This record gives sequence, structure tokens and C-alpha cells, in this order.
Amino acid sequence: MQMLGVDIGGSGIKGCLVDTATGELIGERHRLATPQPATPAAIAHTLKALVEHFEWKGPVGCGFPAIIHNGIAKSAANIDKSWVETDAAHLFADVTGLPCHVINDADAAGLAEMRFGTGRDRKGVIILITVGTGIGTAVFVNGQLLPNTELGHLMLEGMVAEHYCSDAARKREDLSWGRWGKRFNKYLARLEFLFSPDLFILGGGSASKLDKFIDKIETRAPLVAAASLNQAGIIGAALYAVEQQK
Ligand code: BGC
Repeated sequence: MQMLGVDIGGSGIKGCLVDTATGELIGERHRLATPQPATPAAIAHTLKALVEHFEWKGPVGCGFPAIIHNGIAKSAANIDKSWVETDAAHLFADVTGLPCHVINDADAAGLAEMRFGTGRDRKGVIILITVGTGIGTAVFVNGQLLPNTELGHLMLEGMVAEHYCSDAARKREDLSWGRWGKRFNKYLARLEFLFSPDLFILGGGSASKLDKFIDKIETRAPLVAAASLNQAGIIGAALYAVEQQK
């Protein structure tokens, strides 16, 4: 089945048609800059432009960087605060004229990795971590997602973890990969203490840089890069839309 998957982020809104049977992208990915301020109305209009670019007429799956409970945003760490309590699913459907299914962005990436990527056919506890402007997490037990875990907001070294070791923190503090890797190792150690996972999967932009800091990672559970790197959000959003159609 073909589906439009969209990954809404703090700097870009990226979409692509996805073959949901294979998890492969169909054709070229399209990216539009996230409007600033990233208010609900502004993002919805950018989403509409993305949908029109693909001349898409079917349902849309959207990954969104916040807690999403029954289509409603319940937090806004790295987006405009006016998102809190916005019914994103209804707003997007109204503006695009298409059924829109909204899921937390890290949960979307996790669905893709568990279906087609590194987590495929793996049992046990698996934590996918997306590292970008914020830190997103998706927790799976025997392939089943526990949604909206928000483990990027644990406290670490007296700070919200995503302020301590996101990719934005690395850039802001001009940290070498080695120094940043030591911070990320502390974060993983905390997750390991709390959840005893069997595997950590790294998604987001940092996944392609894993070789630059893997020597700093000392957890018992291995840390591996997401197979679809930072396309997982788009693919997982499309998978979610298919599931919601059933
Ligand atoms: C948000 C999460 C999101 C993550 C990655 C965090 O700041 O609270 O909902 O998954 O960033 O975008």
C-alpha cells in the first residue's frame, strides 16, 4: 500500500510517499522549512503545501515532536507553546481536507525500525532514541509500543536530559563527538538502570555519526544505528496511518 508519511520537526517538515509493505520510500523526499513561529495554523498550512506537492488525495500519517494523546498535543518542548491542547489531527484534517493521523515523532520512528529495521523480529525491551533538537524515545516490549514515553525529559546532571545531550546541546556548546559521547553514555546508563533494555537503537541525524562516539558507550545493551537513519520518522508515520485506517 502507498501512504504519505510526514515528519514534522523544529526546523523542517519532511514528507515522502512510502510503500508500507516494504518500508521503502517511493520517489523523492520533499522538505519545507518549519514556519517561525511554528504555530498550529502556520504548521497546518505548510503541511497542506507538502500534501499538494505530492498531489496526494489519501490519508496522511504525521509524526509530531510532542506528547500526542488521541490526536491532541499535550506538551510543547521544542515547538510553539500554543500547541498544548491543540487537536492536531482535527486541525490537519480541516486544513488539508484529508484524514490525518498524528503520532509522536519518536514513536513513529520506532514503529518503522521495529517493522523493517534493526528491531525487526527482536523480542525483549528495545529503546529507540532520536537525537536532534530534542531527545525522543520509543519503548517496545516484545514488539509492542508503550507510547509517549518522553524519556528525553529525565533529569541528568541537574538538567533536563535533552538540554544536556541533544544534538542541539552538542552544537550549542561546541562539544567534540568524544565529549558529547561521554554525556550520551551517561544518559544511556540512566535508561539502562531504569529499564534494563536488550537493545538501544539510535535514530535522528546523529545515527550516521555513531562511529565518532561509539568508543565512549559502555552500556551492557548494545547501541546500534537505526537502519533507515533519519527516514524512520517518515516511514513510521505512514505505517501508523495504515494501522489507523483498519
Ligand atoms: C519532545 C518529544 C519528542 C522529542 C523529539 C522532545 O522535546 O518532548 O515529544 O519526541 O523532543 O522530537
